Amino acid sequence: MEKDNKKLRSTEWFGQKDKMGFVHRSWLRNQGHPDHVFDGRPVIGICNTWSDLTPCNAHLRGFAEIVKRGVYEAGGFPLEFPVMSLGETIMKPSTMMWRNLVSMDTEETIRANPLDGIVLLTGCDKTTPSTVMGACSVDLPTIVVPGGPMLNGKWRGKDVGSGVLTWQIGEGLKDGSFNPKDLFEAEACAARSAGHCMTMGTASSMASTVEALGLTLPGASAIPAVDSRKKVMAHLAGNRIVEMVKENLKLSKILTREAFENAIMANAAIGGSTNVMIHLTAIAGRIGVDLNIDDFDTVGSHIPLLANLMPAGKFLMEDFYYAGGLPVVLKELAGYLHQDAITVNGKSIGENVANAECFNREVIASIDQPIQEKAGIVVVKGNLCENGAVIKPSATDGKLLKHTGRAVVFESIEDYHARIDNPDLDIDEHCVMVLKGVGPVGYPGMPEVGNMDLPEKLLKKGVKDMVRISDGRMSGTAYGTVVLHVSPESTVGGTLALVQNGDLIELDVEKRKLSLHVSEEELARRKSLWTAPAPVADRGYASLFIKHVEQADQGCDFDFLKGGSGSQVSRDLH
Ligand code: FES
Repeated sequence: MEKDNKKLRSTEWFGQKDKMGFVHRSWLRNQGHPDHVFDGRPVIGICNTWSDLTPCNAHLRGFAEIVKRGVYEAGGFPLEFPVMSLGETIMKPSTMMWRNLVSMDTEETIRANPLDGIVLLTGCDKTTPSTVMGACSVDLPTIVVPGGPMLNGKWRGKDVGSGVLTWQIGEGLKDGSFNPKDLFEAEACAARSAGHCMTMGTASSMASTVEALGLTLPGASAIPAVDSRKKVMAHLAGNRIVEMVKENLKLSKILTREAFENAIMANAAIGGSTNVMIHLTAIAGRIGVDLNIDDFDTVGSHIPLLANLMPAGKFLMEDFYYAGGLPVVLKELAGYLHQDAITVNGKSIGENVANAECFNREVIASIDQPIQEKAGIVVVKGNLCENGAVIKPSATDGKLLKHTGRAVVFESIEDYHARIDNPDLDIDEHCVMVLKGVGPVGYPGMPEVGNMDLPEKLLKKGVKDMVRISDGRMSGTAYGTVVLHVSPESTVGGTLALVQNGDLIELDVEKRKLSLHVSEEELARRKSLWTAPAPVADRGYASLFIKHVEQADQGCDFDFLKGGSGSQVSRDLH
């Protein structure tokens, strides 16, 4: 790629020969930097989501040092900075509530400082979309280094997948197939190395998605966190970001509409998470690409499933990497993808994967013999979800994708927990479980509770799946006939709020329909009696979130964060 000789923005700080130049440089000198780092070379910000409280990102502290090595080697000057980190398994009530806050932290830190290019160190679910969103609103040359998945979980001679095992244990504790005495042993075996969930959950899906968008070096996303080749990738990313600054290869040059379509198709082919829809929509909103919920169905739903990975399949991310990883999937999708989309290494995605080779067809199927036809996420609409809801057919056994059943309604997640295992609950396997109050505004933060555990009495009968509907999300590691992201949500007065026990609900995935069989007159009557719940917070960040978060179909970004403000600082430090 051609060099762009535009003056670097960091020289506005370090190139000054006056008092303020002294101020900008002098305090940094306390870290022992020599004169020549201020000679106009690219200054690279390494945005680190490391935290002991985010187990999936705990290894990134050391990774920053490796990226720095690469930056120095290429003639740049690296400066690492922290942003708030989001640990999926620990934070309450839901990490989704802080995704936008981290995006603001990332955006403002980048813009306010003398940085020319950015490396994002990411891992756990929200740490990828949040930092990418923030970086998009500044639009500097940026490269993502995904922290990588854990090694396969191994328990008593079997591979166990993060998240998937959690759901299995949850059900096993209820139906008696799992002994509670085994909990400690199982949990240690499920997370036996550094890295994020090693199923194709949200973290792996988002890492694969940013690779398909063109924001990582080719093949970066699937490399296990503890594999030495991950360190090589981090080093090379440090090298490359310096070149990207010289080429002025900004995010907006990579993140085109075509790149987003590629990412949607890739997420379908890997059986990726429904959460990707929300995050991709939000990222697109920041970079000014028009993307809406219907695009995921139009662009992705007909794509075949190629990756045989849990939760949709059998294997785990370590196997995926050894089989060739995402480049193989992208090569198989050649007939669908926009081959010319440019990536961070300056080459097109088609060029990057041209020589990809599959080493295990059990793990990555060919396009001619896919694991499943039409595996992408489907968007359903109807009077129960005027703005849409989503379902991931590849995470089901297909038996309930056309189903009509009697609604059993839970007014909140607390109501669900209080009654679900009551033997007197009037429910059978044909019913449709409905959960309200878990949307972006209602919870707040749209937690991953949409894949409600089935009632104990039905699990003991051997029932494995039921239709479940909510305005919440589900973990990318979960499975079942689960309709999610119902929009508008119940708390803001969506029709979901009006569903009552005994109403008939019809799901028809083939026809893209989700219908509540209640007359318009009756719905109008119920609406006239409905009152909005009181906001769950009246101060602080939660209050800001409730007032400004958009609905799931729009990506759950804040209304005031859409778009970007570029890299210009509004006023000088005086
Ligand atoms: Fe962090 Fe799954 S809990 S990626």
